[in-house]
Amino acid sequence: MAILVTGGLGYIGSHTVVELLNNNFDVIIVDDLSNSEKFILNNIEEITGKKPTFYPFDLKRKELLAQVFDAHPIEGCINFAAFKAVGESQLKPIDYYENNLFSLINILQEFKSRNISNFIFSSSCTVYGQADTMPINEDTPLKAPESVYGKTKQMGEEMLRDFAKAYRRKVSLLRYFNPIGAHPSIKIGELPAGIPNNLVPYVTQTAAGIREKLSIWGNDYPTEDGTAIRDYVYVVDLAKAHVAALEKLLNNDSDEAIIDIYNLGTGKGSSVLDVVNAFEIANNVKVPYQICDRREGDITVVYANADRAENELKWKSETSLQEALRTAWEWQKYLESRIEYSKSI
Ligand code: NAD
Ligand code: WQD
Repeated sequence: MAILVTGGLGYIGSHTVVELLNNNFDVIIVDDLSNSEKFILNNIEEITGKKPTFYPFDLKRKELLAQVFDAHPIEGCINFAAFKAVGESQLKPIDYYENNLFSLINILQEFKSRNISNFIFSSSCTVYGQADTMPINEDTPLKAPESVYGKTKQMGEEMLRDFAKAYRRKVSLLRYFNPIGAHPSIKIGELPAGIPNNLVPYVTQTAAGIREKLSIWGNDYPTEDGTAIRDYVYVVDLAKAHVAALEKLLNNDSDEAIIDIYNLGTGKGSSVLDVVNAFEIANNVKVPYQICDRREGDITVVYANADRAENELKWKSETSLQEALRTAWEWQKYLESRIEYSKSI
């Protein structure tokens, strides 16, 4: 069975492609390499012993996308392709709306006209904003997102609900919390472009001496140690949830609309200092840091109630923070061993 994976050479996409191949799906990747590297494709093959079909083009190119659907019996899609930098989305709003929404619309047009169902969308905990109560479950009301990036995720979700209802198709909206870590083979992982905005790549680059010090954005939050709390979920666990969500859609032969929504997190909040400490213990390396003012737009605490995924998908993230951070550090060292990558940092 052929599954289209857009953005399949990116961070979460590549880990999911590995899990799909290990579960005997035929995988067709479309990725324009705007935020990924071709060597990831070879490394996926090294991990799985299988080579996915790969098309390097921009999903906004409708005519090329139609040819992919002509060439393969596609029965579902996992749509990772999107721009994802929150800060950049404020500076380049039209580029974000164009990339994230036109890509989605183009795939949905093919799904509509070819009568294909089974669509999985990469959404984000950002759709909840600062929720009034913790943990966040899927019925927690969505707030107006702070960023253009967040708006593209809310709009994508809306589009998919309307698509499912109007054409009686099956969709799954997966709301990721904070994905971290790398594959245990240390052949695929996150490739931050330039100076990382996200915590874990900044921590690994600081430990490696590429950055002088980690800036901890604020220690005056109303939390136990004063630093902000997030739900850090191991990327391989996250990847496995996609296979479970896809299988659930595929096994449902109802011809009614299905709109599944799942929070994908650990259910446990960790502070910034918890992450630094866990990293130091897991890897026996120091992370120099300084306390700075709060980062604009940051919220105090976000963590998931992931019970629905556990009950309905039989999925639970069980990898510890330390183990996830161990793989993140191994991946950092692997990247530095690749001359072409270390030059681009
Ligand atoms: P990523 O940037 O590593 O992967 C996205 C991939 O899509 C890249 O390989 C990029 O080259 C490709 N791409 C982007 N636009 C494209 C286009 N128009 N045509 C073809 N390919 C295109 O990002 P990621 O961290 O793997 O995130 C995957 C998805 O999950 C995104 O939709 C992101 O918004 C969402 N998400 C990510 C996080 C996170 O913290 N990483 C959290 C919540 C949600
Ligand atoms: C985590 C914590 C920072 C860097 C973002 C997106 C969200 C989702 C996940 C896609 C915060 C602190 C960070 C640093 C720090 N992505 N921090 N020093 O902001 O929770 O969420 O990624 O959908 O939409 O907004 O993740 O990794 O940037 O920050 O102190 O150098 O680490 O203040 O408390 P965030 P993050």
